[in-house]
Amino acid sequence: MDVGNPLQRIRQLTLALNEHNHRYYVLNAPSISDKQFDLLLKELEQLEKAHPDLVQPDSPSLRIGSDLTKEFAAVVHKYPMLSLSNTYSEGELRDFDQRVRKGVGNTAEYVCELKFDGVAIGLTYRNGLLEQAATRGDGTQGDDVTVNIKTIRSIPLKVREKEYPKEFEIRGEVYLTHAQFDKINAQRIEEGEDPFANPRNAAAGSLKLLDPAEVVHRGLTCYLYNLLSETPPHNNHYDNMMAAKTWGLRVPEYMARCKTLDDVLDFINNWDTDRKHLPFDIDGVVIKVNSIEHQQQLGFTAKSPRWAIAYKFAAEQALTKLLSIDYQVGRTGAITPVANLQPVLLSGTMVKRASLHNADIISQLDVRIGDTVIVEKGGEIIPKIVEVELSLRPRNSSPVAFIAHCPECGTALLRNEGEAAHFCPSEDGCPPQIKGKLEHFISRRAMNIDSLGEGKIALLYDKGLAKNVADLYDLEYNDLLGLEKVIESPETGKSKMISFREKTVENILNGIETSKLAPFHKVLFALGIRHVGETVAKKVTAHVGNLDRLISATNDELTAIPDIGERIAASIKDYFSNSAHLQIIERLRAHGLKFSSEKPASTSRNRLGGKSFVVSGVFSGYSRDGIKKAIEDNGGKIVSAISSKTDFVLAGENMGPEKKKKALELGIPIISEAEFDSMIG
Ligand code: IVH
Repeated sequence: MDVGNPLQRIRQLTLALNEHNHRYYVLNAPSISDKQFDLLLKELEQLEKAHPDLVQPDSPSLRIGSDLTKEFAAVVHKYPMLSLSNTYSEGELRDFDQRVRKGVGNTAEYVCELKFDGVAIGLTYRNGLLEQAATRGDGTQGDDVTVNIKTIRSIPLKVREKEYPKEFEIRGEVYLTHAQFDKINAQRIEEGEDPFANPRNAAAGSLKLLDPAEVVHRGLTCYLYNLLSETPPHNNHYDNMMAAKTWGLRVPEYMARCKTLDDVLDFINNWDTDRKHLPFDIDGVVIKVNSIEHQQQLGFTAKSPRWAIAYKFAAEQALTKLLSIDYQVGRTGAITPVANLQPVLLSGTMVKRASLHNADIISQLDVRIGDTVIVEKGGEIIPKIVEVELSLRPRNSSPVAFIAHCPECGTALLRNEGEAAHFCPSEDGCPPQIKGKLEHFISRRAMNIDSLGEGKIALLYDKGLAKNVADLYDLEYNDLLGLEKVIESPETGKSKMISFREKTVENILNGIETSKLAPFHKVLFALGIRHVGETVAKKVTAHVGNLDRLISATNDELTAIPDIGERIAASIKDYFSNSAHLQIIERLRAHGLKFSSEKPASTSRNRLGGKSFVVSGVFSGYSRDGIKKAIEDNGGKIVSAISSKTDFVLAGENMGPEKKKKALELGIPIISEAEFDSMIG
């Protein structure tokens, strides 16, 4: 290939590969297939070999990727955790076989195994007890994820009473079955979170959860495929695996000893077809030299053993036409271009749509409407376009012009420096984002209103009953009874009917009422302030004690809170500087949501915080004077006429129609006696 200026190409490849590594290992959101990555890396390695003086100091060829995170303690690996050299070609397998036979002679025997597509893990057992579990990290040191690994039921905490080495490490792969992956994603969608792109990302994300109690629910499992010990029971890999099996460790079921390369190729070809029937993902076959002595003779390169190689299956591809591009707006406002394709059969399913990820990918591919494209199905749910068949391009085509305005609300799109995705900044005015905020608010880890879900939220939104989170607390029985709608799941294409009968309505209203007991940190998290996740919300609330102090906190006060940096502080300040947000918060406060983590002092009852009330009508639990006294005793003020300064109209039976009209005109919340009772506790 003519590479033009090698320095320029080396720089370009280094930059691109580092970005892809970051997406893969840190963001768990790769945007190219493993094969594309490997091809780019190979191109870089070849160029670097030809021009060693041009190797960039940050070249990805100098290291293997890293999954290190700062939340877990670092563990230095006793044996470096290397990767495997990869190939997609039979020719390179033949070269491997020849190198092996040249090194150790013709008696070499191989063990073929499946290449599980999950997360590498090293388990150390001492005196039969699981002592430590570590991720690969950068190969030299990894993250100590012992507490999380201990939640995985297929990993014994103690091996069975058999002859086992006093100390050994066994490495393997933590993965998710397809069924478990689907379950996790369905739940994430229900809770308003973005689904994982594939089981590997979901497994990686799960292993790095900070709460082991959460990890249990992910249903991770594990295959162990490499025994490391000073005193292994046998002199070959296969027998060691069989021994590990008797210790109660889960070793791969499908392993074959092969004496010739033809046997190896048979194993590969069989699994290239049969993998479709496995309940989990594999991305190839690993071929290992069986004898430990042979392994030692062959040794290692800086990155991988010379006694093993991974043969990767190419993702299945199909040729079809790009008909048009849709732009989807996510719950966070991110815009994702999606290709509409002429339907084509791929890996047994009819494919009509493919992900185009972002504007960069569109221009890198230079894909145009009308182009014939190659689509590929990797581990992802939705296939991707990997290449354009330029020879078939229609003559009059032109490059895709990425949209400039949000297709949902028309707001001009923005793109942050260093970020790939365009986004719609109209957080509070863009329908999918508003629904996303509502879904987040009701989700289990936030206000936990489980009687509402994605479908019901969509229905309330579409009927104009919930345009923001405060509206949920204004819902009344008669607003809800009888509402119905047919909804179609974008994931499955199946439709179902939602209809609000008596019981549903009661459950919804009870759920909303109970949510008022949620502690301050959950309420703060539920508001969906950018960068304020659960942990940050806990830290912030523990520090400031109540909302008013948070609203008035300066940047310095915020950044003085442990783990709160400039980015989070700026986001909090930005959120509270928006008057629409403050209005919503005041309404939530009036409905009795907790905006303080402090215990109320029994002497100063200031639950109403100086709010002004107009009282109208008759009340069942109070006399006219009684209710006024209750307002004043709780720190509220009574005013006689409704004005724009009035905070609430407290309405009893037979409220005067003029007052009601005025309150509605000015948008003053009209609260019932029951609501007033819950405000004052
Ligand atoms: S053996 C020194 N066996 O593939 C090499 N690895 O690309 C030890 N993998 O880091 C690895 N299935 O995470 C081995 N049956 C298998 C495997 C396997 C998946 C992963 C592993 C490794 C990566 C290398």
